Amino acid sequence: MALLDHHARLERHATLLLAASLFVVTIGGIVQIVPLFYLENTIEPVTGVRPYSPLELTGRDIYIREGCYVCHSQMIRPLRDEVERYGHYSLAAESMYDHPFQWGSKRTGPDLARVGGRYSDAWHVQHLIDPQSVVPESIMPPYAHLMEVTLDGAHVAELMETHRLVGVPYTEEQIAQARADFLAQADPMADTAGLLERYPGAVVADFDGQPAVTEMDALVAYLQVLGTMVDFSTFVPEPGR
Ligand code: HEC
Repeated sequence: MALLDHHARLERHATLLLAASLFVVTIGGIVQIVPLFYLENTIEPVTGVRPYSPLELTGRDIYIREGCYVCHSQMIRPLRDEVERYGHYSLAAESMYDHPFQWGSKRTGPDLARVGGRYSDAWHVQHLIDPQSVVPESIMPPYAHLMEVTLDGAHVAELMETHRLVGVPYTEEQIAQARADFLAQADPMADTAGLLERYPGAVVADFDGQPAVTEMDALVAYLQVLGTMVDFSTFVPEPGR
């Protein structure tokens, strides 16, 4: 009863209540924030995650420019329905080279974090040209114009240097070879040994079937790498790291 009497004083004294509330909120804040100071890294180490190849990085810019993130998220939450539909939940490491990240907050269309390899290149091209031709009930707008804009990779090295400024570890070699790698990834006849050494697992293809490299090639190269870098048949999560 005595304790409750004291509480009555708090409730009737606005300044005292404010001070006491701030005190309690501060304890809560410190409990959440202080452990982060003692962690060296909040991203778990995961093998397989690499920076985007020049063509993929260009495709990522097109993805952002066209506003695909307005309808598509790229983050699978660790909930059963999501994991059953889209695959293993997203790891922080998988978006560590994304500046800015594409997690998104809106799903008018499905999550795309693991769409890589799920469909053929031809399916993606047809779907982007005319979504309703492959998914009749789709409300996704068409992006056929991407077939018409050709790219020569003249500025892709600068784009990669910009990403290096914000922490993506592109090497001198990767920057020097940027344009050659850009062109090689969209040309199945090219010598791609160097490209695949620098960017393991990069999908090499003439994505849109046209001789020139187009924005469509770049966007599909980006879509096909999404979620494919980590080998989940061997990945073991380490709790508490
Ligand atoms: C107005 C909202 C909207 C926008 C903008 C949009 N989409 Fe979609 N997207 C959808 C919807 C709805 C679906 C599901 C129906 C379908 O497959 O077309 C979809 C499906 C997809 C799929 C198939 C996913 C799967 O797992 O089946 C891909 C890939 C895709 N979109 C890529 C893109 C890309 C790339 C862009 C930007 C160039 C884009 N979308 C822009 C609404 C949108």
